[in-house]
Amino acid sequence: MNEKLLYPSRDLLREFASKILVISLFICANITLLQTVHAQDGAALHQENCIACHAAMTGGDGSVLYTRDDRGVKSLDALSKQVDRCQSSLGLAWSNDQISSVQQYLNNSYYKF
Ligand code: HEC
Repeated sequence: MNEKLLYPSRDLLREFASKILVISLFICANITLLQTVHAQDGAALHQENCIACHAAMTGGDGSVLYTRDDRGVKSLDALSKQVDRCQSSLGLAWSNDQISSVQQYLNNSYYKF
């Protein structure tokens, strides 16, 4: 049996801990970056396909639909379903990923569930 493995020295433990720390920071930074990119995608998809009609209905940029007191969507799950309903009625055939990026964008910007 290797003694070093049974009783790792303090230095070894410290080195190990700092490696874990660096790796987790790296992973966290990447997740944050991916989420930002994801939400930007959602913003672009929403801008291209969804705003014009909502804006024509309400005036302004249409976002009042998402923020008014009697808005229809009451939960994150309902938001995803509504995004799905709207995109499919427009014949857009979005992937689950596209639906979830628009859901994420609308939630971060307006609904805040
Ligand atoms: C042809 C017009 C039209 C287009 C295009 C459109 N919508 Fe809508 N949207 C509506 C109408 C009408 C409502 C219902 C408004 C109401 O409840 O008074 C609505 C409501 C919504 C709501 C719910 C608002 C609430 O009350 O909480 C969401 C979310 C939504 N749309 C998302 C989208 C998304 C995402 C797209 C793009 C894929 C989209 N819409 C494209 C007409 C449209």
